[in-house]
Amino acid sequence: MKTLIVTGGAGFIGSNFLHLLRVSRPEWKLVNLDALTYAGNLENLVAFEGAANYRFVRGDIAVREDVERAFAAAVELGGTVSVVHFAAESHVDRSIQSGLPFVQTNVLGTQVLLDASRAHGIERFVHVSTDEVYGSLGDSGYFTEETPLAPNSPYSASKAASDLLVRAAIHTHGFPALVTRCSNNYGPYQFPEKLIPLMIAKAGDGEPLPVYGDGKNVRDWLYVVDHCEAILAVLERGKLGETYNIGGHNEYENIAIVRRVLSELGKPESLIRYVKDRPGHDRRYAIDASKIERELGWRPRFRFEQALPLTIEWYRTHAAWLQRVRNGAYREYLVRQYGG
Ligand code: NAD
Ligand code: TYD
Repeated sequence: MKTLIVTGGAGFIGSNFLHLLRVSRPEWKLVNLDALTYAGNLENLVAFEGAANYRFVRGDIAVREDVERAFAAAVELGGTVSVVHFAAESHVDRSIQSGLPFVQTNVLGTQVLLDASRAHGIERFVHVSTDEVYGSLGDSGYFTEETPLAPNSPYSASKAASDLLVRAAIHTHGFPALVTRCSNNYGPYQFPEKLIPLMIAKAGDGEPLPVYGDGKNVRDWLYVVDHCEAILAVLERGKLGETYNIGGHNEYENIAIVRRVLSELGKPESLIRYVKDRPGHDRRYAIDASKIERELGWRPRFRFEQALPLTIEWYRTHAAWLQRVRNGAYREYLVRQYGG
């Protein structure tokens, strides 16, 4: 019997991962350790309320006592414990405003979690990282697992630091960890500060859509369910100590994404505003995911042409969720349950 501590399970990808497990691994026991920063939203997880195999622990991964509370909850549920580590400060623009919370959570928090996980003799630890640790590509080429780390933003630098701490734990202590590095995700429950949900939200309200620089920066988009299935494959079948890139060969310029959102919503391109570029803006990300395809048999199931409309439809049918995030009302739930 498996018990999983999922960190950051109230965020975008973590909550999608929990939903995937609820359906595909109903016998697993789940502990969600999340600090509920601005990016954590318990309204993503109403389906888990009262579930016998699920515990929510509000806590900070950088505080050992909080992490110990999550382990205590896992021990109480029984079974062999593994950890899937999503919790992070995740937005590049915020890291440009202030790098410190990124170092605190992504670097210090990961080390605290590694120390506690090692002390508890866990079975497996999946560290969820990002393709941004590889830096930026020119017009051609792909990131492989051998591409040297060359992060350019405080966000990606803090993620690269955490990857190296995981590597050190593997190398020094024989710690049973695996690392995943995925490209940009989109899908349900994504906080509307990231490109796709921000554009959906603004276009829906007829507000101008801010496109940074010339709009020709390229990202490699993957539907969040595909990412979650890849993480599950790595957790269950990955080789200890290995790193796996995850991506779907789905590169688009930002301006193409923005135009597509507008056309899906039947809104005019006159809403597009080119604005001042992001400082240090990485030009292009593109993932070579052949290792996970070859070794673990994972492949993306969703095509962009299908999953982008699905995502837009999700935001349309969850207009109240989106509105409560945008006007801050989603925090009320938190205040009622946890006093702030
Ligand atoms: P997110 O910002 O939506 O969610 C982060 C979650 O972590 C939130 O629930 C937040 O409350 C929690 N958290 C933050 N600091 C914490 C702390 N100190 N202790 C406990 N919990 C804390 O992020 P996301 O987009 O779901 O990303 C999840 C992970 O996947 C991150 O590690 C990110 O680097 C990685 N990743 C994201 C993408 C993407 O496109 N979003 C792509 C590749 C990798
Ligand atoms: P983002 O979703 O922040 O992800 P990341 O920076 O981690 O790749 O941004 C995706 C791309 O969209 C990136 O090239 C920056 C650009 N972008 C805009 O042009 N306008 C915006 O308002 C935002 C948030 C992003």
